Amino acid sequence: MAELKTKLRKVVIIGTGFVGSSYAYSLLNQGVANELVLVDLNKDKAEGEARDLNHGMPFGAPMKIKAGDYSDCHNADLVVITAGANQKPGETRLDLVSKNAKIFKGIVQSIMDVGFDGIFLVATNPVDILSDITLEVSGLPQERVIGSGTILDTARFRYLLSEHFEVDSRNVHAYIIGEHGDSELPVWSHVQIGGIPLSRYAGIDDLYSHPVMTELFVNVRDAAYHIIERKGATYYGIGLALVRLTKAILNNENSIVTISTHLNGEYGLDDVYLGVPAILNENGVREIIELDLNEKEQKQLEKSASVLKEMTEVAKQ
Ligand code: LAC
Repeated sequence: MAELKTKLRKVVIIGTGFVGSSYAYSLLNQGVANELVLVDLNKDKAEGEARDLNHGMPFGAPMKIKAGDYSDCHNADLVVITAGANQKPGETRLDLVSKNAKIFKGIVQSIMDVGFDGIFLVATNPVDILSDITLEVSGLPQERVIGSGTILDTARFRYLLSEHFEVDSRNVHAYIIGEHGDSELPVWSHVQIGGIPLSRYAGIDDLYSHPVMTELFVNVRDAAYHIIERKGATYYGIGLALVRLTKAILNNENSIVTISTHLNGEYGLDDVYLGVPAILNENGVREIIELDLNEKEQKQLEKSASVLKEMTEVAKQ
């Protein structure tokens, strides 16, 4: 009988700080991977996280968890990069670009040096720019280099809409696209509740100028700042979002998620990473979904793209 080619379902996490360890904990809780390797410059931290997680194994799903190094990436299906400086109170994600770009070039090169040939998922901010740098340094096909993008912003948008309209968030269809950051935008023209366009469901003619809807979007866009002011960092939301993306990849789901992906003419934009809806499966991005944006949305997306292009040039110098 032909030998079954089973997937290793092996994930390597680079960086075991708040985001990396929250992601690892969520992976164990949801039993998503078979093998998990934790890599950190601080080897004791990685070893401590691995031991702590392993002791919870009897309560979770069986998986091999260990601390390791870049050499463990050679046969990984997925490498998730969470390492780097995170925002301090009042700092924007773009403020992190120069220090994290330098860190990334070294990390990605070290991973490629051991023959990695899987999918990169970038979570470190500024995620769109660092995804672009990962593509350039790795030389992997663009469909296999993605960033978490606006998946968490989209989740925040759906959550706040569900709270406002008192509807299960799973029945709220909405997208945040563009930069994972201050220039992101809500695609109001495509928000639906139970399949009904929001403008009709809520009886609001102009969602763009409605004060309550505007405030709701501002709360989405600025959510991380308000959390960082209170607890110093964000990590549970992004950790769970990374598990969602890991499932789409390892389970070959063909799910539509708003991730940071490389545009080649889609939305009239070229050679830039930003958050758009895309179909994600075991080979990475299968297809970018091109929403028919209205004029206002298109203009905002172009603005977001120009902000990112400018900062990406800075980062690549
Ligand atoms: C946030 C981080 C992941 O938005 O940028 O919480």
